Formats: sequence, C-alpha cells, structure tokens
Amino acid sequence: MLPEQQKNSATASLNSTQLTQLQQIIGNYSPLQLAWASGYLAAKSEQQLTLGMSVPTEVENKQTSKLTILYASQTGNAKGVAKNLAQLAQAQGCQVNLQNIAEYKVKNLKNERYLIIVASTNGEGEPPDDALAFHEFLFSKKAPKLPQLHYSVLALGDSSYEFFCQTGKDFDQRLQALGAKPIRARVDCDVDYQAEAKTWSEKLVAELKETLATHASAAEIVAFPQLDTSCAYSKDKPYVAELLVSQKITGRDSLKDVRHVEIDLGDSGLHYQAGDALGVYFDNDSELVDELLCLLAFSGQETITLAEQQLTLKNALINHLEITQTPVSFVEFWANHTHDETLTSLLTDKNALRVFASQHQIIDVLSYSTKKITAQAFVEQLRKITPRLYSIASSQSEVENEVHLTVGLVQYQQGSKTRYGAASGFLAKRLAEGEKVKVFVEENNNFRLPANTEQGNKTPIIMIGAGTGIAPFRAFMQEREARADQGAELGKSWLFFGEQTFTQDFLYQVEWQNYLKSGVLTKMDVAFSRDQQEKVYVQHRLKAQAKEVYQWLEQGAHIYLCGDANRMAKDVHQALVDIIREQSGNSREQAENYLKTLRSEKRYQKDVY
Ligand SMILES: Cc1cc2nc3c(=O)[nH]c(=O)nc-3n(C[C@H](O)[C@H](O)[C@H](O)COP(=O)(O)OP(=O)(O)OC[C@H]3O[C@@H](n4cnc5c(N)ncnc54)[C@H](O)[C@@H]3O)c2cc1C
Ligand SMILES: Cc1cc2nc3c(=O)[nH]c(=O)nc-3n(C[C@H](O)[C@H](O)[C@H](O)COP(=O)(O)O)c2cc1C
Repeated sequence: MLPEQQKNSATASLNSTQLTQLQQIIGNYSPLQLAWASGYLAAKSEQQLTLGMSVPTEVENKQTSKLTILYASQTGNAKGVAKNLAQLAQAQGCQVNLQNIAEYKVKNLKNERYLIIVASTNGEGEPPDDALAFHEFLFSKKAPKLPQLHYSVLALGDSSYEFFCQTGKDFDQRLQALGAKPIRARVDCDVDYQAEAKTWSEKLVAELKETLATHASAAEIVAFPQLDTSCAYSKDKPYVAELLVSQKITGRDSLKDVRHVEIDLGDSGLHYQAGDALGVYFDNDSELVDELLCLLAFSGQETITLAEQQLTLKNALINHLEITQTPVSFVEFWANHTHDETLTSLLTDKNALRVFASQHQIIDVLSYSTKKITAQAFVEQLRKITPRLYSIASSQSEVENEVHLTVGLVQYQQGSKTRYGAASGFLAKRLAEGEKVKVFVEENNNFRLPANTEQGNKTPIIMIGAGTGIAPFRAFMQEREARADQGAELGKSWLFFGEQTFTQDFLYQVEWQNYLKSGVLTKMDVAFSRDQQEKVYVQHRLKAQAKEVYQWLEQGAHIYLCGDANRMAKDVHQALVDIIREQSGNSREQAENYLKTLRSEKRYQKDVY
C-alpha cells in the first residue's frame, strides 16, 4: 500500500470501538432505515460535519425524508393513482411532494432521497406528452448519477400494445443505471389497474412509513396541490347524466355509423374546457350476454363473488366485467383450458397472440372450443369494466350544462354475427334518449386552444382531423366564436378534415360552412378518400399546401391533430416533417427537431386514439 493510501484509509475508516458502536446502533434498522441513515450520513459528511449520531435537525429531515411523487399521465389514470398514493402516504405522516412530471425541476433530482414515479405509456411505447422532457433529460448525458436516491416505479399500460408499460420500464431501468436503488420492484399494470395499484401503493407506504413518518411530525407535512376537488364527480364517482340525443350524422349509404350525442349534465356542476374528454361508463349488451351464457351452458343465475360482493353471473357480465375487449391472458387461459389447436398454436408467438386478442371479443374466443368451467373460474379470467373516453365536441360557452360527443359505432362481422363495441354500441344503439348514463370529465391540458388573451386569440391555429377526430375542433370553434362575441379579435384558423365520401361522411358539414361564412374559420381543406380513383387523405391536402402551412407555422401557428393513432397520426407527422424540410431547406433531422420544439412549446398537440 502506498503511504498516501495508508493515510487516507486511517482517517476515512472507523476504529474497532466505533465500528462496534455503529453496528449496535444500526443492528435493528430495516433496509429502508439503513438507506435513510446512509443518506443522512452522506449529507453530514458533505457539510463537513463530524460523524456524530446526533438526532437530525428539522431542516435536515426535510431534505432527506421528503417523499416526492411524480405522475406522468396522458388521460388521467396515473394522475389518479399518484394522488391516492400521496393521500395514503400523507395520512401515515409522510412529508409528500406530489407533482405533475412536466412541472418537476430536473435540477432537483440529485437532491432527492425518495422518489416514486407513476407513469403511463402513450403512442407506441412513448411517454405521455407531459413526461417527454423529463424522459429526454433522464436519458441524456446531463442526467446526474443518483446513488443517494431510493425510488419506485408503478407503470400503467395496456397489454394489447406491443410496448407494454414501456415508459415505466424506461424510467425504472434508467434510474437504476444512474445508481438509484429500488425500494420495491416495479409493477406493470394492465387496463384494469386499480386493484394492483392500490395493493402496490399500500405496501410501499407501509415500508416507507417506518423511515419517513418517524421523522416528520404532522406539523411539518407539506400540503400537496389538491387535484380536481372543485367538483363532486370523478371517475370513481361518476355523475348519472341523461342522454338527450343520439343522432346518426353519416348518410344512409355510408359504411360508417357516426353519432352526434348530446348529454345533459343537469345541476352536477361538472365543468369542462374545449380539448377535454368525457369518460363514459356502459352496460354490456344483454343479448350478447345471453349468447355467451348459452354457449357455456350457464343459466345466468349462478352466484359468483367479485371483490367480496356476491352477484348473479348475468348481473356481473352485464354490469361489471369486460366482455368485448379480450386480454391476451384470457386467450392463453382458454387455450390451456380447452387445448384447442388453433388457440394453442398462438401461444408460442407473442405478437400473433396480441393481434388475435385485439380482433376477437370474448365470445369469439370461446367459440373456438367450449369446455365445462365453473362460473367463478370463468369470471376470474375477465377484467373489470373500464370506462371509455370521448373527445368533447362542444364548449360550455355555447351549450352550458350539456356535453356533446361524436361517437363512431364500432361494428364488424364475425362469421354470421354482427359484433358491436361495448360503449359505442351502448351510446348509439342500446341507450334510449331520456335514459341515464354515468359520466365524468377527463381533463386534457395537452390539447388546449391558445389562451383567452389578446395575443392567444390572435394566434393562428391549424386543426387536422379525420373521422371522429373532428370532435374537439367543433368545441374549439364554439369556444372561439364565444370569445369573438365577447370582443376578442381572432387570428386565422384552418381545418383539414378527412373521411370516406363527401355526400355520406362530411360530419357537421353545415356548421363548418357557417363558421367559414362568419369568419370564425378562415380556411378549410377536405380529403374524401373514396370520391376519386386515387386515395386522398389529409396528409396529401397538407402537402399540397406546403408553402402556406409552413408560413403559418413560422407565424407562430399552433397545430392540432386528432383521430386515428395507428395510421393518420403517423402519416400526418411524416407529412409535416416533409413540409418543414422542403420549405426550410433543412435536413430531415432538423425538421424533426423543429416539430419536437413545437411539441415542447405545446404548439403541436395530439389527441389520438
Ligand atoms: C382520449 C381518447 C379520446 C377518444 N375520442 C373518441 C371520439 O371522440 N369518438 C370516438 O368514436 N371514439 C373516441 N375514442 C375511442 C373510444 O374511447 C373507444 O375506444 C371506442 O369508442 C371503442 O370503444 P367500444 O367500447 O365501443 O369498443 P370496445 O368494446 O372497446 O371494442 C370492441 C372490441 O372489438 C374488437 N374489434 C373491434 N373492431 C374489430 C374488427 N374490425 N375486427 C375484429 N375485432 C374487432 C376488439 O377486440 C375490440 O377491443 C377516444 C379514445 C381516447 C383514448
Ligand atoms: C393512444 C394511446 C396509446 C397507448 N399506447 C400504449 C403503449 O404503447 N403501451 C402500453 O402499455 N399502453 C399504451 N396505452 C395504454 C395507456 O398507457 C393506459 O390506458 C393507461 O392506463 C393510461 O394512463 P393515463 O390515463 O395516466 O395516461 C395507450 C393508450 C392510448 C390512448
């Protein structure tokens, strides 16, 4: 050993008496308490204080024992889970800082000791809009080493997507690579995430409580921002509204059945902004349930237990369980239960299995082969009903206590049978006007008109939508018209709309023409794909107007994209890259960066599904 090393080791280590003392003190600490103590000692040494075991001061406690909870959410689920977790931790005496990940200052990361991230996945394995900047920072060279950090990630996703819970996985892997230590293993939750998220939260808080709560008295607990408490109704407590109108707005010869739906929010006090979505609960089709019961030779009167509640099988299938969306796990279960050849052959190909599940409702999987099963064993393979979201197609400035939607009925042939989507079928076919529907408002701060200020109203907007993707733009127009009526001077606006045919599928045609006439809408370009030999889509119309589109962008326009996520959103994005590249004379990479900047400035917003 070199003399210099000998000197360092003598001063850096404890003598044997000190070591024994330390071992006695920490002998009964839990792993988390040890982690806390190590952070505390590290902080002490950074401050060049002596290594005394004095009780930490209040200031030191605040630095080391605060629990930061960040949510990365696109449609509100992760936000709800994070909020519940924060309340739980707070109730146990933990000092909690709950934040939208978009608002979190990344420079604070190196000072965090305890961090929880609840993250959903969006796009094709991409982070939600609000998490893009944090995600980019974490994966950049600027990300600090995080040896002091103890963290946990709860990932929300949908196993029917190829990149299941990818954002949560990304955060987890990267935090670990930066030296942070997991408190609890990440859990990846599927569509029916509630029960799993609740258990995970409870276990996490029980563990953290020992370490964090002991050092934070009730008086020190910092209040976290209250979320959506202004209204008594929420996803967990939906409002029972009345269906006023469900009117088909596609023509008799259209291949599509699109409904204009109006719902009365009565005196609920529910408030929404243009850009928000409405969450809709539904009952399953009783005819489909009867068909399913018949196939499995059940009467429907069998008693089953769901979440400690006793119900008849028929009631459970109509009101509580998903029977149209099929999880991959159900196909696997039925294949193993029946040993059906076709189903079993899917088990070795994950991708084929996922695609199969997304194209078959539960009854269609059962139809491959049936085999006796108990009612209880069957329902245990089904997920709980999850509400569907619909982009709101109205502004309260115009319709007050109503909310309007544009609903495309999901219907297709399966052999000789016509199958319907559960919620769209409910709204379009099964619910009569005057009947009740449970709803809630899902805020979407990532799809907003420029602010209602002089400058905001003058900002040009470009709206691109196909099919039901027109819905939020109707809300935008109503909102802008109301602003104009109150004296606002409006900037120019441009709508690109695409559907199959002009005569059958031009949704809200008369309204758009009136907006053009009144000047609330400045320009409109339509693409009816089946009205000519060659297919024409919105991206073609955009490209045909490349020069002007780019001029609008350079003048500060906000650009909005709504509708089909699979093809339209990708093709339009590509068209925008091409337009920017050609018009600016820059490279593809620079054009991508141009759009990236627009996105981070919230000037390029998407509401795609
Ligand atoms: C933020 C957001 C906004 C949205 N806005 C709107 C909107 O404004 N308007 C709108 O109409 N929708 C909108 N949606 C979509 C909407 O939420 C529902 O997903 C849609 O209405 C279908 O739901 P469903 O319950 O009717 O069908 P589900 O019961 O969910 O689906 C039926 C099932 O049938 C199967 N299936 C469907 N089609 C086929 C096929 N061709 N072949 C074989 N199997 C098939 C699949 O297994 C599918 O899971 C939005 C979604 C999101 C996330
Ligand atoms: C347009 C869209 C894309 C999605 N992409 C994925 C995906 O790639 N992987 C995944 O696991 N889940 C995906 N999901 C499912 C969501 O992550 C899941 O519904 C989650 O509960 C949403 O949580 P949030 O409301 O907090 O955003 C997607 C959902 C939508 C609407």
